[in-house]
Amino acid sequence: MSATFLYALCRSGSEPALKRDVAVRLGGQLTPAFMRPQLITWKALDGAETSLFDSGFALVAGRTVGKATTVGEVVSLVQAAGITPQRLQVLPREAPEEGVSEETWGRVSTLGRELAEALAVPHGGRASPGETVLDIIVGTVAEPWLVGVRNHRDGAFPDVEELLRVALPEAAPSRAWLKMEQALRWLGKDSALAGATVLELGSAPGGGSLCLLDHGATVYGVDTGAMDPRVLAYPTFHHLRVSAGDLQREMVPRQVDVLASDMNLEPRVVCQYAEKFASRLRPAGLILTLKLNTPQVEASLPTIIDRVRRWAPGPVDVRQLPANRREITLVSWAENDRR
Ligand SMILES: C[S@@+](CC[C@H](N)C(=O)[O-])C[C@H]1O[C@@H](n2cnc3c(N)ncnc32)[C@H](O)[C@@H]1O
Repeated sequence: MSATFLYALCRSGSEPALKRDVAVRLGGQLTPAFMRPQLITWKALDGAETSLFDSGFALVAGRTVGKATTVGEVVSLVQAAGITPQRLQVLPREAPEEGVSEETWGRVSTLGRELAEALAVPHGGRASPGETVLDIIVGTVAEPWLVGVRNHRDGAFPDVEELLRVALPEAAPSRAWLKMEQALRWLGKDSALAGATVLELGSAPGGGSLCLLDHGATVYGVDTGAMDPRVLAYPTFHHLRVSAGDLQREMVPRQVDVLASDMNLEPRVVCQYAEKFASRLRPAGLILTLKLNTPQVEASLPTIIDRVRRWAPGPVDVRQLPANRREITLVSWAENDRR
């Protein structure tokens, strides 16, 4: 039997965090194989249990099928491996913070079209849990494509290409707009916020709030910092110019549907605030950006997340969004919320 290789893509600069996280989860069962910017592969050792291979630092994670340079080679690999993909994702290996180049997106689109036709599977779109997704990872022009397969699970990004294609609007007061938009799309809630009330801790200058407002939410932004005038111009925005510690019950509406935080405080402290407000307000959704400023904070994350699981409105998922920097996003949504 040939060896099993696994792969994961991550945001630029998160390769060490991804490696560390996989070593903690599956240490002793995997050994790192080749590595390129934003792509790491591992060889599974004999007897390794790899079916749940994943990481919060992975944009995608799966099992390598092989390498190919033509559409015909991809089709042969897929057939030889006995895979029946239900969806196809073609992903640029490198997605720099300033965005993927038009030239690379052009190659991704052409390849996606050709492969979708040759394999008779849809290219892109949001995967449902249980779907078999074929990943084609496209690097430089000279580099063969990495062909991989994975079973889409709850908590993974349903459409990574979609997240990578989201562009920061010129009107956005901060990059936090991108984080909020990507988090909503990950949750599948980007079309579900009309009429919702969101309490955002750490809202200034207002990229995240603007994103929520444009999705039709009413936003209460908590921050001692100034909000951008474009955000203040929305009648559905309310600035609570206090720190989270000074927020009084009567300042906040009775019904809060989503609690968000982007405060630049230690994750442990952010989660303490979130627990306090969530226990009072019972939001259906939770979107917390947790800053990972030191390796110690990164190492403490599993303990913090376990604690959040005790009070969160639903299953807790933690993943680094393409737009995150030294941070990771925790989301939770009540399963009975049909929003
Ligand atoms: C990364 S910025 C937030 C960006 C913002 N979400 C946006 O969309 O533009 C972090 C913010 O957290 C705020 N912050 C830090 N500690 C806070 C606290 N205890 N209560 C409220 N806000 C806090 C800071 O004032 C700062 O504006």
